[in-house]
Amino acid sequence: MPIQPEAYTYSNTDQTSPEPAAGNAQNRSAAELAAGLLDDKAHVSPKYLYDTLGSKLFEALCLLPEYYPTRTEDAIVAANMASIVRAIGPEATLIDLGAGNCAKAERLFPTLRPRQYVPIDISREFLEQAAAQLQPRYPQMRITPLGLDFSHELALPDSVPAERRVFFYPGSSIGNFSPDQASAFLRRLRDACGADGAVVLGVDLIKDAAVLQAAYDDALGLTSAFNLNLLRNVNRLLGSDFNVADWMHEARFNERAQCMEMHLKARRSVIVRWPGAQRLFERHECIHTENSYKYTVPSITRLLSQAGFAHAQTWLDGRNWFAVVHARAA
Ligand SMILES: C[S@@+](CC[C@H](N)C(=O)[O-])C[C@H]1O[C@@H](n2cnc3c(N)ncnc32)[C@H](O)[C@@H]1O
Repeated sequence: MPIQPEAYTYSNTDQTSPEPAAGNAQNRSAAELAAGLLDDKAHVSPKYLYDTLGSKLFEALCLLPEYYPTRTEDAIVAANMASIVRAIGPEATLIDLGAGNCAKAERLFPTLRPRQYVPIDISREFLEQAAAQLQPRYPQMRITPLGLDFSHELALPDSVPAERRVFFYPGSSIGNFSPDQASAFLRRLRDACGADGAVVLGVDLIKDAAVLQAAYDDALGLTSAFNLNLLRNVNRLLGSDFNVADWMHEARFNERAQCMEMHLKARRSVIVRWPGAQRLFERHECIHTENSYKYTVPSITRLLSQAGFAHAQTWLDGRNWFAVVHARAA
């Protein structure tokens, strides 16, 4: 069955036409990128890791033996499908934050049978392809893909029912925020989900630093390619002239913060130019591109309860490496 055109809408509000919305989003991205690159310690948000190639590289690195989070989370869900689906309950509007290829949500469909599926992703083209492939497999299900950046606002269009909203946020993406930012983001989810809503989070737990280091700096170099590809995406969005060959991937474990960090380190002194500005990066100067904070079950439960969620239920793997957490609006 073809995707319903009214459901297949890419705009922030569903009220504006896609072109102005896309133009505004691009201007905002350019301003945000320029500000981060001009900071004393240059930084770029990890959301810019994801253009179409970035999404494909992420999909590939999930297959690496070193990258345990995806397969560990999948195994937790498979082993606890019945109780996770019972916790979510019937008639859910499943809103998948950073849906990527939609594979994790799809595994829930046969048992959960959500009323509507709303995959959201900043990587629009990749999401569009994933949703187009998904719809014929679930002709009865309304699928409403939204290509937007949820870090600024979470104004969901009228095509997303207000009842039984369940925010599905797997892959430990919550760890990309600092704990304070994560708390603020969860509060926004609490506001957006309403009194009968819930969240389902996939959360990476504190573990041996060597396991983390290998996961973020794999032997094949896929994480390195994924990180370096951010520069190509920045060139596209900002009009900058980064040369990928001038940079190298670096993964660091910040033990004090229990956070894996990704950086791009200049191989030599380089000047990077973009419309209206430029910056000299000295040899070995870095651009910070990702944080991935690790949690404990008590610390994530505390964050959820501070944000207005309660009745947290947690499912773990045998090594306590990863947690899937369901919590209801308090
Ligand atoms: C770590 S991947 C997870 C993909 C998939 N959910 C999974 O668990 O395998 C993060 C996903 O979130 C998307 N994303 C990151 N930041 C975003 C933002 N601010 N707004 C919308 N999507 C975002 C990325 O494009 C990417 O698909």
